[in-house]
Amino acid sequence: MRLLIDRLERERRLEKEEWMALIGELPEAEYLFAKARAAAKRQYGTAVYARGLIEFTNYCKNNCFYCGIRRDNANVDRYRLDEAEIMDCCKTGYALGFRTFVLQGGEDPYYTDEKLERLVWRIKASYPDCALTLSVGEMSKESYQRLFDAGADRYLLRHETADERHYRRLHPKELSLNARKACLLALQEIGFQTGCGFMVGSPGQTVESLAEDMLFITEFGPQMVGVGPFVPHHDTPFAKHPKGSVERTLYMIGLLRLLKPALLLPATTALGTADANGRERGVLAGANVVMPNLSPIGVRKKYALYDDKICTGEEAAECLAGLRRRMEGIGYALSMERGDPVKE
Ligand code: 5AD
Repeated sequence: MRLLIDRLERERRLEKEEWMALIGELPEAEYLFAKARAAAKRQYGTAVYARGLIEFTNYCKNNCFYCGIRRDNANVDRYRLDEAEIMDCCKTGYALGFRTFVLQGGEDPYYTDEKLERLVWRIKASYPDCALTLSVGEMSKESYQRLFDAGADRYLLRHETADERHYRRLHPKELSLNARKACLLALQEIGFQTGCGFMVGSPGQTVESLAEDMLFITEFGPQMVGVGPFVPHHDTPFAKHPKGSVERTLYMIGLLRLLKPALLLPATTALGTADANGRERGVLAGANVVMPNLSPIGVRKKYALYDDKICTGEEAAECLAGLRRRMEGIGYALSMERGDPVKE
């Protein structure tokens, strides 16, 4: 099995059966993580990049079975931040040193192209030295182009699963893997730094599904990949499903680092929720990004995609200080730089 890991590192691809052999058994995890850390260090040193996350709306027109802010969840206290509130989050974040802002929200029709375009333009005009990442779901290529032209640099849109059958198990019929992939291709063609990603351990996922994710990522060539364990939310159809494996999530992070050494790979909040030291363990498996929350304290708990989400009771500054301490504790340095992808 070490030979397989060595070959992944050398050739940066594997056959489906080979992926399945690794993902099914998680062999030689410490060996994989040591190689993944070394690969991350060659590209980015000991930097772990901080991205300031602004969860600006929890309205969503979609009804994904796993997600706490799905349309049919009547127990969500819905909110949206207005432009002034979002600008305020950026101001706080900039003063704390953040040079990347991530605007994330549900697919909220209130935020039309015009409104989003204006917002992007304003943030980039006020903070030209910052990168702006959008994470607002599926749109037409024309809409994506407008947001790019307004100055947005990056776009996160997890593909959720590259396994057709599994995609249908996770989503209502209005949503399709093909449409999702078309959005990702459009984003890439336009010139966004593009991020895809998936959950580990969501209902119906098999080892083969995860192998499909690796094949998709090999071919697509994203700049960023978000991976976190599935964590159940009590008001969703998947409330009774067990959470995803932290060990397998870490292993996927290690594999991704060897597959694409220059990736920006977050140690996600879901990983930190599933394991008290999840984010440190993520970095030690090859991750190099963390995304502390910049949302106003009053709305934090309302952006609950899953149960027991961490850092919902902390101010932005406390969030950041906690992460800095955690990263230093394992020999890494929290970086506030823009953290653009390196050319390999
Ligand atoms: N558990 C873990 N991750 C989740 N997401 C949504 N719901 C859950 C959940 N219950 C992830 C999805 C989405 C991202 C913003 O959060 O992958 O793309």
